[in-house]
Amino acid sequence: MEELMDKLLKIPNHVAFIMDGNGRWAKKRMLPRAMGHRAGTENLRNIITHARDLGIKYVTFYAFSTENWKRPPEEVNALMDILVTYLKKETQTFVKENARLCIIGDMSQFPEKLQKQVENSIKMTAANDSIIVNIALNYSGRSEIIHAVNDFIDQNRGEPLNEELFEKYLYTKNMPDPDLLIRTSGEIRLSNFMLWQLAYSEFYFTDVFWPDFDINEFDKALITFTKRDRRYGGLNHA
Ligand code: FPP
Repeated sequence: MEELMDKLLKIPNHVAFIMDGNGRWAKKRMLPRAMGHRAGTENLRNIITHARDLGIKYVTFYAFSTENWKRPPEEVNALMDILVTYLKKETQTFVKENARLCIIGDMSQFPEKLQKQVENSIKMTAANDSIIVNIALNYSGRSEIIHAVNDFIDQNRGEPLNEELFEKYLYTKNMPDPDLLIRTSGEIRLSNFMLWQLAYSEFYFTDVFWPDFDINEFDKALITFTKRDRRYGGLNHA
């Protein structure tokens, strides 16, 4: 860890993950797709703990997009079960590790069992502050923006909209934008993820499937991030 810390000149405050490749990971092993999602879920604990140990304050995982409802019902149901089981099992770990769970997305379409479990896990971890673990559920960037606009119309008292005010209506209100987005499995696109928040983030794409994205792979992404020069539209400050 010390050696790694020497290499990491900058620690990102917020890292977002598109956890892609679970299905192909399973197919390669002639396993059902749900096994790929299970293997991908197993991966989360190490990634979260490693992030926390490095001082990363926010991690966001894209677990279920608004488009994922188009998958066969068996896969959707398997994902719901995996989520409930994960939260049941891991909430204690979150408590032990002082991690706080947050959800971005519209939970209202999920089975009641999942909604209750999420509510409970959020409540049990609400006072924790070593790392915020954001899980994106029934989430898409465009639907988040439309949701925010509608909330703004409902709630505003004639004030003009600006970027700072608009951000208060997003699911991510009070959270910093991701500094780094990691997408696994060789796909090089955003897939409707955090469209507003990723405006100035650094992107890291790797061919590794999500279940194989271990902490060594995570370190490679962080080392790459360290070498990037972020100018936010300005000039090189060096
Ligand atoms: C993409 O792989 C992955 C998903 C659509 C779901 C991600 C969900 C998990 C890892 C499990 C639950 C998450 C949490 C936070 C408990 P894919 O199915 O699109 O893979 P493919 O592109 O290889 O088919």
